[in-house]
Amino acid sequence: MAAQNGADWWRQATVYQIYPRSFADANGDGLGDLPGIASRVDYLARLGVDAVWLSPFYPSALADGGYDVDDYRNVDPRLGTLDDFDAMIGALHAAGIKLIVDIVPNHSSNRHEWFQAALAAPKGSPERDRYVFRDGLGENGELSPAPDWVSAFGGPAWTAVGDGQWYLHLFAPEQPDFNWRNEEVREDFLKTLRFWSDRGVDGFRVDVAHALAKDLPADLPSQAQLDAIDKATGTHPLWDRDEVHEIYTGWRAVFDEYDPPRIAVAEAWVNPPWRRARYASAAGLGQAFNFDLLEADFDAGAFKGIITENLEQAAASGSSTTWVFSNHDVVRHATRYGLPPNGDQPRKYNRAWLLSRGTEPELDTARGLRRARAATLLMLALPGSAYLYQGEELGLGEVATIPDGARQDPTFVRSPGVDVGRDGCRVPIPWTVEGPSFGFGSGPAHLPQPDWFGKVSVEAEDGDAGSTLSLYRAALGLRRELQADETLAWVPSRDDVLHVRRANGWEAVANFGTAPVALPEGEVLLASGPLGEGELPGETTVWLKQA
Ligand code: NOJ
Repeated sequence: MAAQNGADWWRQATVYQIYPRSFADANGDGLGDLPGIASRVDYLARLGVDAVWLSPFYPSALADGGYDVDDYRNVDPRLGTLDDFDAMIGALHAAGIKLIVDIVPNHSSNRHEWFQAALAAPKGSPERDRYVFRDGLGENGELSPAPDWVSAFGGPAWTAVGDGQWYLHLFAPEQPDFNWRNEEVREDFLKTLRFWSDRGVDGFRVDVAHALAKDLPADLPSQAQLDAIDKATGTHPLWDRDEVHEIYTGWRAVFDEYDPPRIAVAEAWVNPPWRRARYASAAGLGQAFNFDLLEADFDAGAFKGIITENLEQAAASGSSTTWVFSNHDVVRHATRYGLPPNGDQPRKYNRAWLLSRGTEPELDTARGLRRARAATLLMLALPGSAYLYQGEELGLGEVATIPDGARQDPTFVRSPGVDVGRDGCRVPIPWTVEGPSFGFGSGPAHLPQPDWFGKVSVEAEDGDAGSTLSLYRAALGLRRELQADETLAWVPSRDDVLHVRRANGWEAVANFGTAPVALPEGEVLLASGPLGEGELPGETTVWLKQA
């Protein structure tokens, strides 16, 4: 079964996430741009991806890496123009690659013309109604309406505007939350969806999809009270409210105006996991990220449970599942897997290690890469879509040594001593062994790259049969050829080995242990590392084909 075309193209697509400011810099200003992406389409085609997901490229002051959008229907001038966008999408489409763009509907930036108008307008005005404003407490509203609410990046979630009113920002103060009960807000986003769909985009990645609908009582609860509310009820004042799906029904109607219908994937960190299914329903966004593998230890039992549960959920929702190990928010998986298990902390944070600037606990780089390659090869054999993050095809690790003064992520500034932030996975990727920014651009990169980047550059890995780049290219090529229906069977195996079979006899066997095991029968197609004579070494995955 070749890569799918038609309306179902997304169901088992391999989607490559580009963080545009860190991918390729065509004009040498240190910031990646759209012409840079267009210049690398051959690379993407050779890699074998079906689609690109582009993180925000809209005008932005970069208070949150572009997730603070000034204007939803334009391109940041530092990244190019709308003409550059058209040229880029034209080049991608000509190479048979679809384009998914990020849409950020929970909040705009504080520089958005609507927020500026809200600040200039009085309390109770239609301009303020587009955002979530509240009177402050105290005689003149000088106290926060919910003093102990903590934003996702640390620090208060309400900010005063100077006239006794305060606005809500679940993220940085530069990211005021929209009021989704406001009809103009709803209409404007439909306009934005059409704007990009008319320009040819194939789909949308929906940022913080679970936060749009809010219902704040007159007396705001404390943070502790908020935290105690059972989110499974769909009645939490801020997160994952049931009525959020009404919004997406409206979006679906817009997606279905196009042929093929535009697709969407929800970023919805919801719990319990079954609540994800509603975002993924065909009447809603159609697909939702499953971040379970991204949070799991490198452990056969954990992986098996996650794979089983997510395939069941996908079958129940009618969607296909998604698999993700890395993105622009988490420590790269080649690094995570080289660190000891993270205890109760979700693995994505690896906070202590980041805080120690990558010294404590000691990182086993070789092991991290070996495990990442094994985990990825298993993931690429599973039914559903695989979301890859730029640089992981090079086996790139997290950069823990960015000097404090060069850090950009708001979590670093807002959570001193607690969070170092996400810059370490956003360092511009290396294309060449040498050069001022390892081929990223003609000048230095906007986040400093470490010396070791040259060794993991595209140039260094291209043509090296044992490189991670060669592994990804081979795996994506084969995945396209071998793709089968969305069912999966488990072949009985030892506890530390996972053995899966697709309907056409395509198998993956992943040895999560450290000791070699006997290599099962079958034609060997590809392996994540060298195989022994009749043996599958530890922390290695092999693809087999049964006749
Ligand atoms: C999720 C995005 O992935 C992250 O990068 C961003 O900071 C938040 N949403 C807020 O928009």
